[in-house]
Amino acid sequence: MTSFGAVVPAGSRKGSEDIAVRVENVSKRFRLYHERNQSLKAAMLRGGRAKYDNFWALKDVSLEVPAGSTFGLIGQNGSGKSTLLKCMARILRPDAGTIDVRGKMSALLELGAGFHPELSGRENVYLNGSILGLSRKQIDGKFEEIVEFAGLSKFIDTPVKNYSSGMYVRLGFSVAINVDPDVLLVDEVLAVGDENFQRKCSEKFAELRDSGKTIVLVSHGLDTVRTMCEKAAWLEGGVLKDAGTPAALIDKYVETTHVDRVATQGGGSRWGSGEIVVTKIELLDGDGNPTLWVHTGDSATLRFHYLAREKVKRPVLGFGIHNLDGVHATGVNSREAVAPESVEGAGYIDFVAPRMPLTAGSYDVTVAIVDENNLHTFDFQTKAMRFDVGRGTPSEAEGVFAIDGLWKFE
Ligand SMILES: Nc1ncnc2c1ncn2[C@@H]1O[C@H](COP(=O)(O)OP(=O)(O)OP(=O)(O)O)[C@@H](O)[C@H]1O
Ligand SMILES: [Mg+2]
Repeated sequence: MTSFGAVVPAGSRKGSEDIAVRVENVSKRFRLYHERNQSLKAAMLRGGRAKYDNFWALKDVSLEVPAGSTFGLIGQNGSGKSTLLKCMARILRPDAGTIDVRGKMSALLELGAGFHPELSGRENVYLNGSILGLSRKQIDGKFEEIVEFAGLSKFIDTPVKNYSSGMYVRLGFSVAINVDPDVLLVDEVLAVGDENFQRKCSEKFAELRDSGKTIVLVSHGLDTVRTMCEKAAWLEGGVLKDAGTPAALIDKYVETTHVDRVATQGGGSRWGSGEIVVTKIELLDGDGNPTLWVHTGDSATLRFHYLAREKVKRPVLGFGIHNLDGVHATGVNSREAVAPESVEGAGYIDFVAPRMPLTAGSYDVTVAIVDENNLHTFDFQTKAMRFDVGRGTPSEAEGVFAIDGLWKFE
């Protein structure tokens, strides 16, 4: 199995005072129970034993986070990033291996993890602070700063169950970073909150970094990892695939996951008369750069490159998006769009989504080009391209898409 040894050779192993988090041969198993309904009666009939499969979410992972560094963890959905972070935070216990953390640790792992819904923001700050090892007096001293940073003065005596997801994150984050941790573990929160809060967080990160604190950051935002981290590790299927400087690692990651994508595509089919064909589909981020990821709520563009081998009158392009369970999330076409009378040669057609409504997950794109009356199919490709959506805004959304709208509290 892969280990971090490739990056920190055993011979040149740093003294333990230079390592903030040492993960050694960590494996974590989850039990997946067969029966959904674990009724008491059924359990008794089995003699108390339920049938389960072992699922290894982490397999023999070893890595070292240098003290004072910002360390990024990347990998696809389900690769074990959060599990590893929870093991570091001692919320989960590894089934094998050890994790040493030097110094006071604070963690922001899940939306509102550690918050009690019935308690007010104020009470939760004290609860959280005490869990993180602060005395009541110490929290008194930081209280103003915490509330101010979260921008929640007005709502601090409201039960947190009435908070929006953004408010949850702001308060949780504010507590986590204002308790002066030596090691801060952060799971995917930077994508949440408004720009103003994100900027404040980045500044706070920089401040913590400059004052020699260690940060371990899980993120789907590869640019975030690229710009903020000095080192990064890549998990795949619970195994440490590679580690190193973010720039090199991310390039490899994007390349490989894309290559995997193409290799695992298959399963799709294609037909049509071919006068005009879709040659490539690209996903572009809000800045118009090709990407494999967008986040819910981000601006995104699907760019359909075509080649018309002859003059084709008013072609109509349509596409459908399915999730990996085969649920047809959406399908639209350009019939009512303003389009040229005819096309010839190579070009592209963009579909711009100002706010990506799909929730976090992987999606397959089916594309078709037909004639104006939908009587003739020039090109039809199922599963022509796959892309991923990372958790964005809203970060808590269920189903295939997040309905667009605003909350109003009277
Ligand atoms: N409590 C649990 N019981 C069973 N399986 C679990 C549990 N927690 C996580 N898993 C499984 O372990 C694997 C790793 O999950 P984990 O949440 O660590 O992934 P991740 O890399 O953080 O993914 P994401 O990018 O989606 O956040 C997944 O297959 C997940 O379904
Ligand atoms: Mg996760």
